[in-house]
Parts: sequence; structure tokens; C-alpha cells
Amino acid sequence: MHFTRMSAYADHDVPVIVRGEGCYVYDEHGKRYLDGLSALYCVNIGHGRSELGQAAAKQAEELGFYTNWSYAHPRSIELAARIAALAPGNLNRVFFTSGGSEAVESAWKLAKAYHSACGEPTRHKLISRALAYHGTSMGALTATGVPALRTPFEPLTPGGHHVPNTNSYRWREDRDPLWAADAIEEAILFEGPSTVAAVILEPVQNSGGCFVPQDGYFQRVREICDRHGVLLISDEVICAWGRLGHWFGCERFDYQPDMITIAKGLTSAYAPLGAVLAGDHIAEPFLHGAELFNHGFTFGGHPMACAVGLANIDVMERESLCERVRANEGRFREMLDGLRDLEIVGDVRGAGYFHAIELVKDKETKQTFNHEESELLLRGFLSGELFARGLICRTDDRGDPVVQLSPPLIAGEEQFQEIESILRPVLSEAGERIAKGELLARRGREPAR
Ligand SMILES: Cc1ncc(COP(=O)(O)O)c(C=O)c1O
Repeated sequence: MHFTRMSAYADHDVPVIVRGEGCYVYDEHGKRYLDGLSALYCVNIGHGRSELGQAAAKQAEELGFYTNWSYAHPRSIELAARIAALAPGNLNRVFFTSGGSEAVESAWKLAKAYHSACGEPTRHKLISRALAYHGTSMGALTATGVPALRTPFEPLTPGGHHVPNTNSYRWREDRDPLWAADAIEEAILFEGPSTVAAVILEPVQNSGGCFVPQDGYFQRVREICDRHGVLLISDEVICAWGRLGHWFGCERFDYQPDMITIAKGLTSAYAPLGAVLAGDHIAEPFLHGAELFNHGFTFGGHPMACAVGLANIDVMERESLCERVRANEGRFREMLDGLRDLEIVGDVRGAGYFHAIELVKDKETKQTFNHEESELLLRGFLSGELFARGLICRTDDRGDPVVQLSPPLIAGEEQFQEIESILRPVLSEAGERIAKGELLARRGREPAR
């Protein structure tokens, strides 16, 4: 199983999810769960939309598969055109992949190929942020900033460099709010601008718990990139397709990237598909003479996946799902902020239908849990208890412990109340157990990380 401690299922069954409908999924015993994570931040239009399957079936009758290597087929042409029409600015070129890691991998390679075609072949490095998750293939893993995911697979692709993220929860109040943006310039200067190909950032960073950018952060990053001839890649594998209330996450924060990577919500996960969107200026050097982007995947832009992607856009447009998220996110956030009265709730952050609650040992001092405590809290109590009560969400400690919520974009008041009705008692109980010393490390109170 992916990212799964197999031993966790030595004494109980693997949950088998057999059916989905709207915001809910059902296991093999018929038990219903509120899918507060849209499976993995991806079933954006919700479960059980047979029209997406019908689009795939129709496509299979017409043309089950043909490749985008030297040929094209109607669905990939149509989907590329629809995506380009939705994308901001000059992002008119679409290169399909099968998923997010491949999209990130492709964007980095495209950045290198672009610089090389423009006469700057030494620009090969990629700057990303601490704790960020950009995928698991070797190039994408180089961008990923989670040591536990990287270290076992070293040596990674050369050229990765990490900078601080925008998690301001523990920043001093007088800290310059744009210091994390300026740290990108320091990194570019340290590495040498003529060696840096691109900076890759998520609009809201998932890993670590929905880190939002400071006001002006992306504008400053854009200026820095322009000053040093470095490309800006917006990794929107989660943040596009309505998750933040817009087709693309960069629209929410009003910046123009040179490339955007997408996957997940592009088909609402009814079929595997990803893409790199590139500006006209990025494509330009490849349009002449013998130049080409020497890269591809057999299944990139698979006709059935593209047919599903088109049907997914139809649903999102018909049901105005971006507008719906913008209209409802205030209530979603209000519900989560309402949990701040609990001792264990340290911070609530995020945007759109993409939020995290950071759990703390001591609210006053913002003291976090050590590794053993986090194990006891998340794996020993919270994830099992939330699931048993019928809520699927993510408890995560790649950074400090958080509970993440990212419901389907069709979720509304009824689901928000249901989330609250499960989270509140479970988080209160966790707080009570901590107060009694039950979920704390046996070694006693260790210094905060
Ligand atoms: C921001 C981001 N980039 C890349 C990826 C990798 O996508 P995939 O799992 O489809 O390879 C993910 C996956 O969660 C992601 O969140």
C-alpha cells in the first residue's frame, strides 16, 4: 500500500471503500463516512457522478487510446483549449501527464530545456520550500522538502535547494512579513542566478498544514524571479480546479506564474491525468527548426482521461462550483474557527475548501508535541477515532501535528455541521487525555521541537 505502515493492519482490516455518493463514501460493511478530504484533495465535484464515466465509455467506443507523440486526438486538443481558455494570462500551452509528480517532473525539465534553448544551459537548479510536498518521482522528490520522504532515497536529482515556507504561526510579531519571499532571493544569489532554472511554490502549501502566503508574498517572489531570469512554477496539483474558489490558485493571490502544474481535480480524480501549463514565451523556443521538448509519457493526455476532464469542466461550470466555494468558505472557516476554544487547537489556517487545524500541547506558549507524543496523539487516538465516528480527514505530522480538511466543492452547511459534530468531541477528548498525561510521552515533558 502507498505511504502505509503495513503493520498497522496486522490486527484489524484495511478499510475497503466500495461506493461513493456526493460528499459521502461507504465501506464494504455499508458504513457511511463524510469524505472531508475529497479522497486525497481530488474528488472535487464529489462522488458518484456517472456522467464522467459515460464520457469515458463514449470515448472508448470512439477511440480508446492514441498517443500524443507525433499524433494528436480530438479530446486532448479540446481539453487543452478549454484549460488554456480558463488559465490566466498567456498560459496557453498545455502538456499532459498522467499525474502530479509527472507534471512537476515535466515542469522542471521544461524549465531546463527552455533556458538551454535560450542560450543559458547552466540554469538547471530548482528552488522549493521546506516541508513542501511536490511528489515522489526522483525529480519531484528533489523539490519535496520533507526529510523523511527524501533521506531514504538519496542521492536525489542534483540541483534542489530549499528555502523557508510561509508558516507564520510562530513568527515573532515584529518579523518582516515578506522575509520568506526575500529568502528566495538570497538562495538565488547564493546558488548563482545563472545556475537557477525555476522556483516552485504552491499557492497554499499543503504539507505542514495549509500555509497561506503573506499579503504581497507572491508579488515579491514574482519581482525576484524576474530580476534574476528565474521561472516561477505554481504547483497547483491541489490548489487549482476550485479548491481555493478559483480555477487556478494563483488567481486567488493575483500572481502570474510562467508555468502551472495541475492533476487531481482536473478530472475530479475519475481518471488519472495531470498537466503542465506553460506561457507562450516558454513554448516559443520550441516552435522553430529542429528544436523540441524531448520528453513525454505514453499515457500523457490519454483520450479517456481527457474526455473525463472535459465532462468535469462541464459539471464545474454548470454548477458554478468556484463561485460556490467562494460563497461558502466563510461559513466553513467560521465553523473551524469556532473550535479555537478547545485547549488543543493552536491555529486554524487555509483558504477556500482547504484548511488545517494545528494541534498544540500548550496553547499559551504554542508548544508542540515531540515525536513520541505526536505518534500517540495522531496514530494512537485521533485518526482512528475520527474514522470510527465517520469522518475522513487527514491527521498529519510531516511538520507539527495538524488535522486537515478539504471537502468536495459541493459540501455546504450540512457537511460543515457534521464535521463540527465529530471534530469537537474528539478534539476535546484528546485535550482532556493530554491534560491527564495519557497521550504524553512516558519520558515526561520533553522540550518542544
Ligand atoms: C502540490 C503537489 N504536487 C505534486 C503532487 C504529486 O502528485 P501525484 O501524487 O499525482 O504524483 C502532489 C500530491 O499530493 C501535490 O500535492
